[in-house]
Amino acid sequence: MNHFEDRPGPSGVPELWCEGVRLSEIAEAVGTPVYVYSTATLERHFQVFRTALTSALPGRRILIAYAVKANPNLAVIRTLAALGAGADTVSEGEIRRALAAGVPAERIVFSGVGKTDEELVFAITSGVAEINVESEPELERLAIIADRLGRVPEIAIRVNPDVGAGGHVKISTGASDTKFGVSLSEARRLYARAAGMKAVRPVGVACHIGSQISDLSPMEAAFHRMRELVEQLRSDGLSVSRLDLGGGLGAPYHNSPDPPLPEAYAAMIERVLQGLDIDLAFEPGRVIVANAGVLLARTVHVHRRSDGRAFVVLDAGMNDLLRPTLYDAFHQVRPVREGNGAPPEPFDIVGPVCETGDIFAKDRAMAPVSSGDLVAFLSAGAYGASMSSEYNARPLAPEVLVKGDSYAVVRRRPTYEEMMAREILPDWQSQNLD
Ligand code: LLP
Repeated sequence: MNHFEDRPGPSGVPELWCEGVRLSEIAEAVGTPVYVYSTATLERHFQVFRTALTSALPGRRILIAYAVKANPNLAVIRTLAALGAGADTVSEGEIRRALAAGVPAERIVFSGVGKTDEELVFAITSGVAEINVESEPELERLAIIADRLGRVPEIAIRVNPDVGAGGHVKISTGASDTKFGVSLSEARRLYARAAGMKAVRPVGVACHIGSQISDLSPMEAAFHRMRELVEQLRSDGLSVSRLDLGGGLGAPYHNSPDPPLPEAYAAMIERVLQGLDIDLAFEPGRVIVANAGVLLARTVHVHRRSDGRAFVVLDAGMNDLLRPTLYDAFHQVRPVREGNGAPPEPFDIVGPVCETGDIFAKDRAMAPVSSGDLVAFLSAGAYGASMSSEYNARPLAPEVLVKGDSYAVVRRRPTYEEMMAREILPDWQSQNLD
């Protein structure tokens, strides 16, 4: 459930609202393209996810570390942090964002295959809760750095359980031919090696097998393997107190059967972990934020070509929402104001970027729109703004957070001057300009 719904506007014509604010009002005031997020939906999704886990797994210590990469806006992180969320981070930038948004360091997990020395120093000195080590060379570097700093960070070994899953091959991380983590057998050896080091304290094992997972069985298979690993490590005489099961639960995108509900996910975890005494961590991203956000765009014009193809050309492009181009991802696109009664027609919905791939949907049935009409991309709260770029020298779309009847611009659109201000002409060129 989310808080974007059709209700009559001032003239009585139904239009899309976010909580108590008309999306058309935001588009007028802030311009398009613009991302709009709903506080009530963010809160609801986090609470539903947490309640599902705490009800199915009573008495366990559970950290829900929101995967910042899905939507790193400070106001979004802060909304979740206020409810007790931790943060799953993959760079110094994300750790800094989580801290700046009010996530305490002891609720921050630091993952990622290529953490640099500088990032490890920053994570250790910030006192993050857990560093998920993805390889032996990383463990060795981490131990040297921690020793130098005189700190003993708590670590988990990121395991690749060799179960791939996810909505697209480019977002499947758990198969053995991907770059993520170490094999189950290597994890056993590496954990023992880490336990013998004075500079780090291994406390757990972690996995994350993919994203937009719509079928629980690969997760269940992977989690069984993780449980066996914990039992093996303990029978090796090692102490293991934490199991990090990653993120990956899918969100509904309106084009296929809905993915399993958090309740079913939690019940599956309870089945797998029955009788195993261990603290748990989760790293959900998409399931919390995807349906808490939309991207609003304006129709530049409709190009009806003589060969019969009709293109809706928008002022949002692949630089604003990359998912359709990169993964052929489906996003529902709809006019913000429906109701002229015209039957849907097939359109190619495209952006203005000079790339054939700048296409959001091909032959998509949509109620006809005209130049100037607003459209909304639904389910755009996750991996939307976070993957946007300034390609074609297009300013990053601003972001707006709605709460009840109010809204605030939580990232403003940069000016062209600001976009160019980070670039510096070398002396020999700037002299020539005089
Ligand atoms: N933990 C780790 C270690 C991850 O790599 C990821 C996502 C997550 C948690 C959060 O996964 P989620 O709950 O959001 O599925 N850009 C792609 C998705 C890439 C996901 C990468 N890792 C997309 O737009 O579909």
